[in-house]
Amino acid sequence: MSEAAPPTRLWGGRFSGGPADALARLSMSVHFDWRLAPYDLLASRAHARVLRRAGLLDEAECDRVLAALDELDRDARHGAFRPQADDEDVHTALERGLLERVGSLGGKLRAGRSRNDQIATDLRLYLRDHVRQIVARLAELETALLSQAERTIDTPAPGMTHMQHAQPVLFAHQLLAHVQAFIRDVSRLVDWDVRAAVSPLGAGALAGSSLPLDPEAVANELGFARAAANSIDAVSDRDFAAEFLFCAAMIGVHLSRLGEEIVLWATSEFRWVELDDAFSTGSSIMPQKKNPDVAELARGKAGRLIGDLTSLLVVLKGLPLAYDRDLQEDKEPVFDAVDTLLLVLPAVAGMVATMHVDVERLEATAADGYALATDVAEHLVRRGVPFRDAHEAVGHLVVWCAVNDCNLEDVSDEDLATVSEHLTPDVREVLSVAGALAARSAPGGTAPERVREQLVEAHTSVAAHEKWATNG
Ligand code: ARG
Repeated sequence: MSEAAPPTRLWGGRFSGGPADALARLSMSVHFDWRLAPYDLLASRAHARVLRRAGLLDEAECDRVLAALDELDRDARHGAFRPQADDEDVHTALERGLLERVGSLGGKLRAGRSRNDQIATDLRLYLRDHVRQIVARLAELETALLSQAERTIDTPAPGMTHMQHAQPVLFAHQLLAHVQAFIRDVSRLVDWDVRAAVSPLGAGALAGSSLPLDPEAVANELGFARAAANSIDAVSDRDFAAEFLFCAAMIGVHLSRLGEEIVLWATSEFRWVELDDAFSTGSSIMPQKKNPDVAELARGKAGRLIGDLTSLLVVLKGLPLAYDRDLQEDKEPVFDAVDTLLLVLPAVAGMVATMHVDVERLEATAADGYALATDVAEHLVRRGVPFRDAHEAVGHLVVWCAVNDCNLEDVSDEDLATVSEHLTPDVREVLSVAGALAARSAPGGTAPERVREQLVEAHTSVAAHEKWATNG
């Protein structure tokens, strides 16, 4: 270590020598926690003001410290101030920056706080900020799905269960099912934020401070709803990180489901959608290929989001109170999940917004696979036939059609009667896709008027999401 620039270590008084290289390398987190610098500086400003009010900094000292923190913030943002190889973590690097600017006065800022309450505060501030960015991106994806739903509001499509044609649905109804999932994802994040809005600052290492600080004032200044009720919990609690990672993993699973559907819809077998050139890739060998890579990566990224959640839960399992260094392992999964979502959401939104839906093909295939069979059975039920018998009769009809290679509506009156005594010519009344859709008019059903209502409500939710992302 050169004599000119001794490393800024935040401990050392009781140590006779420096750490072994292997320890220093293991201990180091600044290469990933540097992104917390703006939040650490925010917390430092609030802490300086609280020290001022406690009489532990005089006004001139407080002003100098605040000015230096502002300068450090600017320099850090522009890259003029950067962490050095021997800055262990973001707190060490920023303390060095402060000492470089105000000399030993900078050392006063450490009074009454510990890296344990600082890091917990920084990570909460970072996440509350980034959750708003994620919600803004989710709102864009919801908007893309809503515009496609508007464009296909009158288009029937095959509805599937077990990946088999089941009953016709409006294609917009299917798109809105994806929107419902994303609406829940946003509401989970909004709920998460209520629990995350607790400030650990003031907890110190674990027991609180003997100095006359004002944790509530600091909490308030940093936009938290309140200060933590228990200082031991304040420095140990990573529920907020794990809960965020669950929300992120759930978004990943929803993106994966949408991705998988789009992959299928874009196959030559389905041909329901064609992806825009800007959101598909080609093959280096097969000139005809147009690959749905965005949808596949959306599906694949779910794996790493689930991994991020799993890795933090495993770190937390079995940790005793209060702060343990294992907790340093909380940050990379959280950062990875934030980065992943901010990367994948705009790509999926763009892919959905620009995909071309083949409405003629959807309409033409909506009743394939005897998808109106349930309508015939329910028609018989309305005529008083027990559902069990109706199901049986229509099952025979489907077999008859399969053997004779025809559709349900092609069967003659005589043949209907041969298949089952219940199958009188009036069953043909219900053999229309439009009729089948309109009949499903119970709340939440696929009838056009219900789907239109759903669309209006979804727009209201998305507007609220956009608002929350900016003010919430
Ligand atoms: N880099 C540490 C972390 O991420 C900061 C807190 C360190 N505290 C300590 N007592 N060593 O958790």
